Amino acid sequence: MVRAERWRGSPTATSHEEFMRVVKDLRPSRSDVFYDLGCGYAYTCIWIAPKVRRAVGIENFWPRYKRALNNVEKSGRGNIRIVKKSFQTVSLKDATIIYSVILLSLKEYRKIQLETRRGAKLVLCYPPMYPINSWKKDGYYFMRVPFTRVKDETEYARIISGRRDATIKDIHSRFNRFDSVSLKWQISHADYIWAKLNDARK
Ligand SMILES: C[S@@+](CC[C@H](N)C(=O)[O-])C[C@H]1O[C@@H](n2cnc3c(N)ncnc32)[C@H](O)[C@@H]1O
Repeated sequence: MVRAERWRGSPTATSHEEFMRVVKDLRPSRSDVFYDLGCGYAYTCIWIAPKVRRAVGIENFWPRYKRALNNVEKSGRGNIRIVKKSFQTVSLKDATIIYSVILLSLKEYRKIQLETRRGAKLVLCYPPMYPINSWKKDGYYFMRVPFTRVKDETEYARIISGRRDATIKDIHSRFNRFDSVSLKWQISHADYIWAKLNDARK
């Protein structure tokens, strides 16, 4: 296999046990359409497929895409589609559940806010961009479209840390330098971010 760039992360980043906990929290139904943005070897799609109408894995790295296709074929599940594209170029109109282990940018939150239907769920393993509200369960962050806004930095810090007495300072001290600088920017541009997200739904 061609050596993957390190930034891509592991194609099997999510363990079965972790993911089944997420699935339990999501309580999917046979009308749901699941997307994994950056699906790696497609295991999340294979695991959730028996519980949803369709599972769609998006993977833009050829060797992983090929392996994902093989895995899906071996699984014998007919309701999984693997797409060899960058997820930024794929319509998310029919998505009701979106999962990703990729750090999303404002442009990508905006795409989700704009394209997916009301009530669609987004599940991330990274804290959402400030000031997007979320709830945390089993180490994952859950959001619904349209996104709602946290009241202030303290509320955000409490969600991210899971502690009632947390402050934004605690969050900065936990983050690496890159994430901390990025969070500072998000806080100082919260109104701009919020406006960008909301003019997307008009
Ligand atoms: C950390 S892995 C996660 C794999 C799988 N979702 C899991 O949780 O086990 C992220 C995957 O996203 C893919 N990826 C990164 N950027 C992408 C993009 N813009 N479009 C589609 N796939 C992308 C990478 O090649 C990598 O396989």
